[in-house]
Amino acid sequence: MKILFVCLGNICRSPLAEAVFKNVIAREELEELITVDSAGTSDYHIGSGPDARSYENAKLNDINIEHCARQIESEDLKTFDYVIAMDKENFKNIIRLASSDQQKEKIYLMRGFEIDGTYSTRYVENVPDPYFGGEEGFQLVFDILKNSCDNLLSYLKIRHPELNK
Ligand code: 4NP
Repeated sequence: MKILFVCLGNICRSPLAEAVFKNVIAREELEELITVDSAGTSDYHIGSGPDARSYENAKLNDINIEHCARQIESEDLKTFDYVIAMDKENFKNIIRLASSDQQKEKIYLMRGFEIDGTYSTRYVENVPDPYFGGEEGFQLVFDILKNSCDNLLSYLKIRHPELNK
């Protein structure tokens, strides 16, 4: 199973989501069954490492981020099973890349997973963009991502019984 997290620049939120989710699946020894990657809808930071504030925040929370920013491409909607957008703007831009209803159905909003084991887009909020703010914005993003990642795994386990070892 292949999961792709997507934000705007692929240097703040989605590389952090990728690292947090990799940590969650490592804890459950599911690395062989789930592949995780991240990408941005923009081309602003292609080839860059994560923003230093994301990197430091991950370290503070005992997580290491290793990622080189890339832009999402339509091919990703063929190869990934779940494409998870950090906010509604990214969601709309990913929908534009889809070439079929089946591809559109693979696109999710991260905070739709905020309630354990379920997915809902009713009243769903964005993962706030921390890029133009201070350090504290990164810890808020981390807390939101940690919660959504834990619940995303519960959701996947319900939909894909082979993940329950
Ligand atoms: P991200 O944050 O989408 O979470 O990676 C941003 C990074 C860069 C920019 C905006 C948001 N930017 O405008 O360059």
